[in-house]
Amino acid sequence: MCGIVGAIAQRDVSPILLEGLRRLEYRGYDSCGVCTVSDGGFNCVKTVEKVQALTAKVQQHPCPGRLGIAHTRWATHGGPSETNAHPHIVGNLAMVHNGIIENFAQMKEELLKAGYAFKSQTDTEALLARIHFLHAKQGLPLINAFAKALSEVKGSYALALIDRDHPETLYVARQGSPLVIGLGIGENFAASDVLALLPVTRRFIYMKEGEIAALTTSEVKLYDLSLNPLHAEIAESDLDAESISKGKYRHFMQKEIFEQPEALASTMMGRLSGDRVDLSSVAGFSKAALSDIDSIKIVACGTSYHAGLVGKYWLEELAGISTSVEIASEYRYRKAVVKPHSLFVTISQSGETADTLASLRLAKKQGYAATLCVCNVSASSLMRESDFSLMTRAGAEIGVASTKAFTTQLLCLLLLTVYLGALRGALSPEREKEITSAIRALPEAARAVLSGDERVSRLAEEFAGKHHCLFLGRGIMYPIALEGALKLKEISYIHAEGYAAGELKHGPIALIDDKMPVVVVAPDNALLSKLESNIEEVRARGGRLCVFSQGAGSLREDPQTEILTLPPAPAILQPILFTLPLQLLAYHCAVINGTDVDQPRNLAKSVTVE
Ligand code: F6R
Repeated sequence: MCGIVGAIAQRDVSPILLEGLRRLEYRGYDSCGVCTVSDGGFNCVKTVEKVQALTAKVQQHPCPGRLGIAHTRWATHGGPSETNAHPHIVGNLAMVHNGIIENFAQMKEELLKAGYAFKSQTDTEALLARIHFLHAKQGLPLINAFAKALSEVKGSYALALIDRDHPETLYVARQGSPLVIGLGIGENFAASDVLALLPVTRRFIYMKEGEIAALTTSEVKLYDLSLNPLHAEIAESDLDAESISKGKYRHFMQKEIFEQPEALASTMMGRLSGDRVDLSSVAGFSKAALSDIDSIKIVACGTSYHAGLVGKYWLEELAGISTSVEIASEYRYRKAVVKPHSLFVTISQSGETADTLASLRLAKKQGYAATLCVCNVSASSLMRESDFSLMTRAGAEIGVASTKAFTTQLLCLLLLTVYLGALRGALSPEREKEITSAIRALPEAARAVLSGDERVSRLAEEFAGKHHCLFLGRGIMYPIALEGALKLKEISYIHAEGYAAGELKHGPIALIDDKMPVVVVAPDNALLSKLESNIEEVRARGGRLCVFSQGAGSLREDPQTEILTLPPAPAILQPILFTLPLQLLAYHCAVINGTDVDQPRNLAKSVTVE
């Protein structure tokens, strides 16, 4: 959730740290800070504003020094304030932290007795004081004090620690929150995400759980928590520094919506072979392991969970595989019955979502035949810990609201469905051919839908000043209605709920009046006539309708009903294509409402705490 950066170099590191923070701001943005070492002292600057404000503040109060750490925060313990913002300082030590120290209260109590005083309400300051106690009061070398304190921790952390009296080393550690080490020439770095370090290096060590590292300008030493040396594997990133520029767009979210045709093309690349879907070359995929699968459990959070719900419709209908979908924060705390020959699937943009990762770790002990993740970040924890992985290849997604990650997750699930369906003989070669040719047409079809942006932006004006909104869909479009509602509420702050249209009369219809727009996702499919009856129920009660259709059925515009017609496209693509105008609608509503589109309040992109 928070973003951390650290650097040790033969030049001033504050520009590297501030640029790193700017690139990590998607992870949390309620306060931020930077701390460097020069002339045996700390230079520490913090703000409860965004990184841009911190950069301006650093111009007023420069932070020289060749060793430094920085942090952008998503508050867990203690509200956003300069005192609670990181880096925290105790004596000669300063530290930044992403994660939660669950036993910090107990640690703090003991340290209070030992004479420590605390400035902040954070768990981080308690852990830092514990490290300080072991180092300064009990005489352990700093790395030993660091390792000992971490072995006492219950919870999760990615940490960067510096000592103003020994500015030749940067210490980092990881358990449950992501951390990468970036390797430069005569300089080394650490950060929560490679994106932060792309301007300075492409060579990375992805730290694993329970690892500690000591970085100097010339070397990186990696250890386990008992300080046994470990071998570090170096990987080259193929992301470029430009992946986090907005280009010609006003917001990252807008850019990412319009990148979807290319993202989808890249998702399918190398996975279609003639009239067939071929996933045999996908990392780790083994036909033998997959052909026996006769049930699937999908576990994910938020938007990725909605992708799973769509996947269930496809997997059951096309591949004949019994599928259930669960929210990760629920799954991890209940006792599930695991069917034999069952595949466990996680879906995640970041691959670091704490609840999804915990569910995977639980599933590995529960007797599933195999685990598979659908994920956008290579080298993420989910990718590393799953038996098989299907990369979505959407490219870096910076806007907090997930857009291209969602549609590429859907495409991956469709590819998986067709692959499994064919493997099991549930899908005829003719149907497989039909679907693969539809998939090939998807980028162009997505481009055609996105070309209707102006119409959607006019429609968004209808939502100005509205406080509530319903999204309705039936069948496979029900999860798309859920996703449309989530997108609208999270970035425009208009309260929105998604419903299966058939559920309307079981409660939500009581809400219908002329002040609450009802958005209906109404493609040309077998359930259209049923959906039309639900639309009539809304119309009869004076509701205002905004219908996304394909011009089929008896739907007509009238003063109560606005219809936005999407170009014709193969039915199998409807869930993906109908998502696009809903993303645009949410985007334009947010712009009209003047919210911070890419960094909506209270949210963070990567939810690495439960
Ligand atoms: C909503 C959104 C979130 C994420 C959720 C899971 O737009 O982005 O609901 O989908 O936090 O994140 P990942 O997919 O990274 O596991």
